[in-house]
Amino acid sequence: MFLLIILLCGLCLWQLGQACYHLWLSPLSHIPGPKWAAISLLYEFYYEVICSGQYTREIENMHRIYGPIVRVNPYEVHIKDPDFCIEHFSPVKKLDKYGWWYRVFGGPWSTISTEDHHVHKTRRGTFQNFLAPRMVRGFVPTIVEKLKGASAIMDRHVRTGNVLNLSNVYRCMAADVVSAYVLPTSLNLLESDDLGEEFQSSLRFFFETATSMRYLGFMEPIITIIPSIIFNAMLTQPAKALIRLVRKLEACVDDVIQKGPDMDKSGLCLLERINNNEHEKDEMFRERLLQEAEQFIVAGSETTGHTLAVTTFYILQYKNVQEKLLQELINADIVFDGNLEITKLQALPYLSAVITEGLRFSHGVGSRLPRINKSSEVQYKQWRIPAGVPISMTSRLHHEDARLFPEPYKFSPDRWLQADSKNLKKYLSPFGHGSRICPGMHLAIYEINIAIAYIFTHYTVINFDTTEADLVSKHDLGAPFPKQDSKGLQVTLRARVTE
Ligand code: HEM
Repeated sequence: MFLLIILLCGLCLWQLGQACYHLWLSPLSHIPGPKWAAISLLYEFYYEVICSGQYTREIENMHRIYGPIVRVNPYEVHIKDPDFCIEHFSPVKKLDKYGWWYRVFGGPWSTISTEDHHVHKTRRGTFQNFLAPRMVRGFVPTIVEKLKGASAIMDRHVRTGNVLNLSNVYRCMAADVVSAYVLPTSLNLLESDDLGEEFQSSLRFFFETATSMRYLGFMEPIITIIPSIIFNAMLTQPAKALIRLVRKLEACVDDVIQKGPDMDKSGLCLLERINNNEHEKDEMFRERLLQEAEQFIVAGSETTGHTLAVTTFYILQYKNVQEKLLQELINADIVFDGNLEITKLQALPYLSAVITEGLRFSHGVGSRLPRINKSSEVQYKQWRIPAGVPISMTSRLHHEDARLFPEPYKFSPDRWLQADSKNLKKYLSPFGHGSRICPGMHLAIYEINIAIAYIFTHYTVINFDTTEADLVSKHDLGAPFPKQDSKGLQVTLRARVTE
């Protein structure tokens, strides 16, 4: 007992010493912000884990009180200044990722979690060209084919008059498209009986657990020693679904490795391209491929599905937007088959403005994105930030900034059709910034264009009691998630009669 008291007193003294260091001696002690956030990670833990992904909102409050630069935890600085962020996160800067923040996404072998700038460049080089617009254009017939799968589900709902959860359809379609691009075989969730419910619950579980493990990483060794019989009994349904998904991806990776490099490049999926292009294959290569596969499926499905659902919801909310969009699409007379010309679709100004506004409303990644400049200190106004300190920004806070986007919560595609819209576009960053910008953006944008254009020309979509709260991100857990009991975008459908 005496020993325990000594231990506890020692721990308290250690914590007190740490708090004093962070407050007065740390090289970040001059950065404004709440003292509680500066002295320990517990402050952030409360908002991120206990309140589930609420720290973005709290950081926004901090900026309101303390100005454009705040210390969000003992080690990290957050800046809300769009012009500074464009400059600081520019592709020419050799910035590292913040390992503590990213260790949870896909593991250390995936491109998205790679800390070091140079290692990242090499890894990304093994697939970057394959995601360039020229290559993705060749994939348009597959996107159309997946869309037709979604359309078959919608047609059934037209016939029965039943309410359809369009968010689920979009997420399944996004997962089917990205998996068809990345894996030897698509996940084909549109054909599943539960319309991807299991997949979606496993993704939400992944993001929630990943966020918690950032702070509770010290528990990992304890988890690994739990006997498997007890561990398995503790697993929830979403956790089991996530394990099943990983098993599927493992089987795909083993297929790719077994097949070996292929000289005939036509028809190869992205994992096979990495397998072809990666010359230094060590004993961790299988792990690398698996983590890349996980990263692509996670990064490419929830984001694209969410953007599609949010964009559709706001088109339905604003009748004038819907009418203008429909008129433009009818005039363009697009034929949705394997010969669909994506450039023709992308050249439609109003459709393009609607999708840009949809991207602004859906934010991409709702959480902050931290980067480290290891080689030189950063000067921001009167504040000097030492080399090696993580500096983060959050796209969402810029997208909702009324100085850039007047009436930020009004869905207004017209803001992208003004004379100075090109200049405004530089403040839109749903796909992130710099050398780590989303490599899947062309695939995502093609898919969103095709899906929105198809659905509004083929169906009359009627919102069935969906409110903003069912779609707007309430939990920024890497990907944006609406409230826990969200019903998603519920609609009824009628076939549109075209003359
Ligand atoms: C609307 C859809 C999408 C949005 C809004 C989006 C957003 C983002 C953002 C913000 C990042 C940067 C994350 C960071 O800095 O840490 C990112 C990275 C990434 N995204 Fe996307 N994404 C979308 C679709 C896709 C798709 C379809 C794919 C797959 C083809 C994909 C694959 C990736 C990968 C692999 C990375 C990591 C890149 C790297 O670290 O070099 N994303 N995405």
